Amino acid sequence: MMASVVTMEVLDAIKNRRSVRKYLPKPIPEDVLGRVIEAGRIAPSANNRQPWHFVIVKDPETRRALSGGKYASFLQDCPVVIAGCGDTKTSPEWHAVDVTIALQNMVTQATAEGLGTCWIGSFFEDKVKEALGVPEEFAVVAMLAVGYPQEKPKGERKTKKVEEVTSQDRFV
Ligand SMILES: Cc1cc2nc3c(=O)[nH]c(=O)nc-3n(C[C@H](O)[C@H](O)[C@H](O)COP(=O)(O)O)c2cc1C
Repeated sequence: MMASVVTMEVLDAIKNRRSVRKYLPKPIPEDVLGRVIEAGRIAPSANNRQPWHFVIVKDPETRRALSGGKYASFLQDCPVVIAGCGDTKTSPEWHAVDVTIALQNMVTQATAEGLGTCWIGSFFEDKVKEALGVPEEFAVVAMLAVGYPQEKPKGERKTKKVEEVTSQDRFV
């Protein structure tokens, strides 16, 4: 009984999540942000290497430096940006997957906390690395915008039907 209740809550958070691109100028309490980071910190990784480092960016000037990508200008106006960096030396093969898993754990926890998020892949890695002082051997895998939503994304998101994206026993 208990297990099914917990499962539904996770599925609700996953279903309710939408990309948010407008944020209230309201800071995220440290305990709330702490639980979001924690959800990433304990994520699974290949050989448990945990080849990640997350830069939590609140400083407005630094956020501006991260917002140069074509679809990332709203990073200037969101209270927190999390840059997910992967250690290419420790895990040449899996760092990008591992960082992605950790970031998506953060997204789900943020949703459960009433926060909005948006994945950011639109950035110039060299500029982000310079702005954040990311060491040579780390790649910036992706960033997340995080904050209290000022908008509720309109319209149904188009998702493929389960029959389109699954098959039984063989890929058909
Ligand atoms: C890896 C990745 C990179 C993304 N990069 C951006 C981005 O740079 N800017 C942006 O506005 N949205 C970005 N998105 C958000 C997608 O556009 C969004 O998830 C998709 O349209 C589905 O909408 P939904 O998130 O509301 O369900 C990105 C999403 C992913 C997963």
